[in-house]
Amino acid sequence: MPQPVLKPVREQVVVVMGASSGIGRATAARFAEQGAKVVVAARGEAGLRSLVEEIRAAGGDACAEVADVTDPAQVQRVARRAVTEYGGLDTWVHAAAVLLVAPFEQTTPEEFQRVIDVNLMGQVHGAMAALPHLKRQGGALIHISSMGAKRGVPLQTAYCASKHGLDGFLETLRTEVRREDLPVSVTNVMPATINTPLFDQARTKIGVKPVAPPPIYQPDVMVDAVLYAAEHPVRDLVVGGSAKALILGEKLAPRVMDALMARFGFEAHDTGEPKPADAPDNLFAPLDAYNTARDGFDGSAWPRSLYTFLRRQPLVNRIPLAAEALAVAGFVLKPLIR
Ligand SMILES: NC(=O)c1ccc[n+]([C@@H]2O[C@H](COP(=O)([O-])OP(=O)(O)OC[C@H]3O[C@@H](n4cnc5c(N)ncnc54)[C@H](OP(=O)(O)O)[C@@H]3O)[C@@H](O)[C@H]2O)c1
Repeated sequence: MPQPVLKPVREQVVVVMGASSGIGRATAARFAEQGAKVVVAARGEAGLRSLVEEIRAAGGDACAEVADVTDPAQVQRVARRAVTEYGGLDTWVHAAAVLLVAPFEQTTPEEFQRVIDVNLMGQVHGAMAALPHLKRQGGALIHISSMGAKRGVPLQTAYCASKHGLDGFLETLRTEVRREDLPVSVTNVMPATINTPLFDQARTKIGVKPVAPPPIYQPDVMVDAVLYAAEHPVRDLVVGGSAKALILGEKLAPRVMDALMARFGFEAHDTGEPKPADAPDNLFAPLDAYNTARDGFDGSAWPRSLYTFLRRQPLVNRIPLAAEALAVAGFVLKPLIR
């Protein structure tokens, strides 16, 4: 089947859903910097407004649409805004998500449902809104998932269930797109832990501000991957070598991974920074306090991922497992080269 031909980013109209903070915010800013026209959306009006101001001040073109992804009508409105404001839609990036860090036995049905509604149904609503526009002239549907889509992590039952659901949704959607010969690429981006306000905004029931298993990468590593997928039809992109290692470990030895998660997975969430269960969070309504791309892990976050860099090299991708082998070699040799 011929691959869809995607326009250069500078000629694209892009929607970023979940752009008020974190990966979505950094991605929208980079798209605009590279000349794309960008519609940014989320619930938090203040965050969107400040992002549009930043983009315009830097000479870019952007507009904002307030929307909650759990409401399909609001998501449809975002897609229509791209058409009325800029005349079409070339790439839809769906980043919106919430995180609940709690033992399953302390999770309420309402909390579990809400995570599924935002993280899974929200992505479904995004695809429903974007596909009719993308299939007209070709385009990219880019869903931000997680390494948690392939391997469950303790204290994140609802989050990992939502991301596993997203995996099944995208796999199936892709087959239908292919069968119909639609000129649309469907990409599943699965990051490792990224330095974003996700953790500050999360609902936590473990007494501390949570984080996910290390290492932590800077959002730019994700942004590079998303912009690559906007120009190159790619099935999935794992971002961060640690995410690849986790996913490979799950494929090869799931029981060993169960044991490792039970032994180390709980403590891996502990930042040591006290946060009570009734601290404000963004599960049901936005927190306007976190209008930034990065969180506070700047001191320890990795600015690059060799694995993800290699995955973006067409020559390396032609050889099975070459990116994985080169990344492992790079990781091992790095201390020796220094
Ligand atoms: N950071 C990580 O370690 C990590 C790792 C793996 C995967 N991811 C994935 O990366 C994506 C981006 O997350 P992030 O790390 O950048 O977190 P973030 O900074 O918390 O960003 C989440 C975005 O989603 C929006 N959002 C939340 N609920 C929404 C709703 N109901 N409707 C519309 N927008 C909503 C938030 O804005 P409002 O609150 O203003 O609506 C915010 O713009 C998510 O899909 C996340 O699962 C992140």
